[in-house]
Amino acid sequence: MAEVVFQGVAKSYGDVKVIEGLDLEIRDQEFMVLVGPSGCGKSTALRMIAGLEEISGGTVSIGGRVVNEVAPKDRDIAMVFQSYALYPHMTIRENLEFGLKIRKLPQAEIDTLVNEAAEILGIAHLLDRKPKQLSGGQRQRVAVGRAITRKPSVFLFDEPLSNLDAKLRVQMRAEISKLQNRLKTTTVYVTHDQVEAMTMGHRIAIMKDGKLQQVGTPLEVYEQPANLFVAAFIGTPPMNFVKATFADGGGTLKAGTFSLPVPASLRGLTGAKDGKAVVVGIRPENVVDPQKPTRGETARLGATVEVIEPLGHEVLVYARLGGDDVVVAKIDPHRAPAYDDKIELVVELDALHLFDAATELRLTA
Ligand SMILES: Nc1ncnc2c1ncn2[C@@H]1O[C@H](COP(=O)(O)OP(=O)(O)OP(=O)(O)O)[C@@H](O)[C@H]1O
Ligand SMILES: [Mg+2]
Repeated sequence: MAEVVFQGVAKSYGDVKVIEGLDLEIRDQEFMVLVGPSGCGKSTALRMIAGLEEISGGTVSIGGRVVNEVAPKDRDIAMVFQSYALYPHMTIRENLEFGLKIRKLPQAEIDTLVNEAAEILGIAHLLDRKPKQLSGGQRQRVAVGRAITRKPSVFLFDEPLSNLDAKLRVQMRAEISKLQNRLKTTTVYVTHDQVEAMTMGHRIAIMKDGKLQQVGTPLEVYEQPANLFVAAFIGTPPMNFVKATFADGGGTLKAGTFSLPVPASLRGLTGAKDGKAVVVGIRPENVVDPQKPTRGETARLGATVEVIEPLGHEVLVYARLGGDDVVVAKIDPHRAPAYDDKIELVVELDALHLFDAATELRLTA
């Protein structure tokens, strides 16, 4: 059991800075997901924990010990890669045993550890096969099994589910969550998939261009995104954004072709002066049809339907409010409009997110 702490961590390759000033504490027994777009430095951060990348500045600690100069094998971590990295010429049992034999554990203990891991992951019947005789999902389970047998103080996962088909990914996602809940081993899990991050993480750390944007529980980052990037990255379909300025003593948001009243819950935000340019964010589930029961203060807007995407349980309606402003609304499938219909949409004003147009930071009280 161990916590993992990044303090002022930097990583450069020559002149190229890929991580800057990373401060992040992953608590003992926590499942932390590092998420962000391709190239933002997630794998680099993970590989610095593992000792597979040198740290250019700052410190990484595992269980209270600075590990910058500690060899990977002495860090008490186990890593699972996207590629599985199984030895093709060895059986599954031999793959699972390999690391333990190198550590010269007695065979009886190795047998116990391997059988236990195989049992937990439901691969006991596959132990005599070679990796190529397994499906992708089974291979991934073996890779996870190999990590478990080492009983490390930290699990590191780098996009372990990317090679699986969509259905299997959902299944393995649940299995890994269940496993972590059972073993309580501190886990750092890297993915570019925000759904994976939301569904698996106790907390999520969102990165962009080598910089940490926000850390919080899935609900915190969903409901209180710290900036425009996080607001746009978390949630599907993404949050709607409309450019606007404050008017009427902070009581109105004036957009291109329409206005929205500022609800009581959002009055008096710091810096909300008349004329201030903001980006108004509103999630698709907070733009609904007039028959749907709503919460808090609302406003009605006229719109023209441009695209309809039926998903079964709901319909995504892309509707033009006027000018350049198109919003996505989640509508009950039994009340779905048709292409080109003129409709009324109801906006739940308490659910608005306001961002400074210049700094892109969330406006807060
Ligand atoms: N050896 C290297 N030399 C120079 N730049 C590198 C090197 N390795 C990685 N980079 C750069 O560092 C940045 C971060 O890479 P990293 O692999 O951590 O990204 P990532 O967030 O894991 O992306 P992905 O989702 O694509 O795996 C990228 O811009 C990458 O081009
Ligand atoms: Mg990566």
